[in-house]
Amino acid sequence: MLDVNQVRNDFPIFRKKDGDFIYLDSASTSQKPESVIESISSYYNSYAANIHRALYEIGEKATDRYESVREKVKRFINVPDSHVVIFTRSTTESINLIAYAWGTKKLAKDDQILITEMEHHSNIVPWQLLSSRSNASLNYIPIKKDGTLELEELKKNISSKTKLVSVSHQSNVFGTINPINDIIDEAKKIGAVTVIDGAQAVPHMKVDIKELDCDFYAFSGHKMLGPTGVGVLVARKNILEEMDPFMGGGEMINTVNMNESTWNEVPWKFEAGTPNIAQVIGLGSSIDYIEKIGIDMIHQHEQELLHYGLEILSQNEDITLYGKAKKRGAVIPFNVKNIHPHDLAKFLDTDGICIRAGHHCAQPIMNKLGISATARASFYLYNTKEDIESLAESIKKTVGIFN
Ligand code: ALA
Repeated sequence: MLDVNQVRNDFPIFRKKDGDFIYLDSASTSQKPESVIESISSYYNSYAANIHRALYEIGEKATDRYESVREKVKRFINVPDSHVVIFTRSTTESINLIAYAWGTKKLAKDDQILITEMEHHSNIVPWQLLSSRSNASLNYIPIKKDGTLELEELKKNISSKTKLVSVSHQSNVFGTINPINDIIDEAKKIGAVTVIDGAQAVPHMKVDIKELDCDFYAFSGHKMLGPTGVGVLVARKNILEEMDPFMGGGEMINTVNMNESTWNEVPWKFEAGTPNIAQVIGLGSSIDYIEKIGIDMIHQHEQELLHYGLEILSQNEDITLYGKAKKRGAVIPFNVKNIHPHDLAKFLDTDGICIRAGHHCAQPIMNKLGISATARASFYLYNTKEDIESLAESIKKTVGIFN
């Protein structure tokens, strides 16, 4: 069993604020353990230098530390080759990279991009932009009101025109864990490229890229105990080699002359300019931390919190819970009768409770549910059952104020 007190002790924010700080917004961004913060300050304090170009000791150390994180990502999510691990700024940037560097060259009129109504805006808007650049159509697999996908509609919508299928591994609104193996299999049958948005999955469950066998998989550091400003894209090597660069600049070239340039090898072809060195090193430390605890242990702890949260919150008749997927992560969207989620979040904050309220960057879902916003509580390894009890109490108190 996870020793949550021990875990909380590793996080300066919980040590400082314990007792009056209940953080239930990890689906938005996670808190950071001391080891991650220290790895970032250690880079700035003792070996701040650029990578791949500084011919002195601290430059070599920075390069080694940065490059070693590719190996960590490879091991953590079982990627076939560390050279297909590309560092970006975020999941959003990773998906935009695919839409520009793959999509602009490959898609044309009469082609189809297929996504789902469950996507975060970061897995919708890049495809809308690509659709308007290429004249390819953009179609959606619908969701049901219970927060699961209409999979029968996948079979009806997918055809030889479908060139790309992009789906979130786990929904940021409902927590639904999508049947991505089935979706990837269907896409492969017609030769479509598959993109998986793993921003909400990699921090919370074992992900195995070799087993999934998708073409692209993207995730972010800041939701998995790492810093903001670092994301990852992994992809099939032959696809990356065929793709044009996303951004031009230093480091991504092999040769440059006045009229043309040639490109560096993958992955550096996609990492133009000085990268977020400290953030990548911080991501490496967050992987070390998660591996020390064990991702399965974290997943199991979160599942217990999810079931406890659903049980406790469903006892309050003023609360409407959304989402009924059998396989779901530790995310609970809800509304409270007669209280706008923004007001609720403000009142809970007076009890030191942080939740998210709004459309969660997923307006198509809100339209489907016929609402404009929900409150959302999401859990991670540092949360406890007492956090959930405090949430339930504070909601009751707020209902008393409003009614
Ligand atoms: N994607 C983040 C969320 O769901 C910001 O809150």
